[in-house]
Amino acid sequence: MAKQAVTTIFFVLFHCIISYWAFMSSCSIHSFTKNSIPAIAKYFGSKGRYEEVNTYLIGDLLATNYSLVTLPPSKCNEIHLTAIIRHGTRYPSTKNIQKMREFYDFLMRNATSNLNGLSEIKSQWKMWYTDEMDGRLVDKGRADHRHLAQRLIKWFPSLLTEDNVRHGRVKLITSSKHRCMNSTIAFREGLMEGLGREVELEPAVNDALMRYFDQCERFVKEVENNKSALEEVKRFKEGPEMKSVMEKMADRLKLPYASITVGQ
Ligand SMILES: *[C@@H]1O[C@H](CO)[C@@H](O)[C@H](O)[C@H]1NC(C)=O
Ligand SMILES: *[C@@H]1O[C@H](CO)[C@@H](O)[C@H](O)[C@H]1NC(C)=O
Ligand SMILES: *[C@@H]1O[C@H](CO)[C@@H](O)[C@H](O)[C@H]1NC(C)=O
Ligand SMILES: *[C@@H]1O[C@H](CO)[C@@H](O)[C@H](O)[C@H]1NC(C)=O
Repeated sequence: MAKQAVTTIFFVLFHCIISYWAFMSSCSIHSFTKNSIPAIAKYFGSKGRYEEVNTYLIGDLLATNYSLVTLPPSKCNEIHLTAIIRHGTRYPSTKNIQKMREFYDFLMRNATSNLNGLSEIKSQWKMWYTDEMDGRLVDKGRADHRHLAQRLIKWFPSLLTEDNVRHGRVKLITSSKHRCMNSTIAFREGLMEGLGREVELEPAVNDALMRYFDQCERFVKEVENNKSALEEVKRFKEGPEMKSVMEKMADRLKLPYASITVGQ
């Protein structure tokens, strides 16, 4: 491995990790353990935590499962790593906060069933999201990235080295979205922490690459703004599984079926 060409590129994508347990974000990182996250949390949000699929992280956020990166037994060496990484845990976007608020108001006003569960929901559910939270990264999201960087150093100790960072062989590419830039900065902090050094490493912003869904004309025309390309989404929304979920909700809340919609 005399001359290894290492170009490590980290992409931070735009996607959303809407986390309903984000209210934990004021806690310190190490308190994101089994006990501080309500067991019900995993059923909420449109995206799960890393820790939900990699449960060994729950007790130790810096734990690494080496069997995930074991190379074939021959004389292979890792020479290059490209990681495509989403931004960390964030608040819901304003659009979704508004939808949640509408549902909250509706539930408080219209749900009248006298089930125990409902009075508990009505007395305990605080609608604490505000419009300004608009998709911003939460502390947990910064921690996601700091820890991921440190785990990657443990996994690829020959690639993520101080020398490679110093010689420009490690690159960070991000979209211009604030939550992505902040995720990238948190990732860099984790890198420095893991290497035990301050190293200069400026993230490059590249929206043509990272936000192709906004900038690629063909994608926008042929997919994004094309109803027939999104046919499966429509069928899912109108399908029997979705219908059953909405009916169960309406039954529980003793509300007319028509009052629960897919948009909620
Ligand atoms: C580590 O990863 C392997 C391979 O995916 C998996 O089978 C194993 O369960 C993981 N170990 C832990 C402790 O999660
Ligand atoms: C909710 O209740 C109000 C009256 O309190 C009523 O005007 C409104 O139509 C109800 N909304 C739905 C969707 O049932
Ligand atoms: C990014 O970080 C800065 C500084 O910590 C903070 O003021 C800002 O609100 C953050 N933005 C997002 C979108 O998380
Ligand atoms: C829209 O999507 C359909 C299905 O993928 C495709 O056949 C069609 O060519 C697309 N229309 C445009 C204008 O790109």
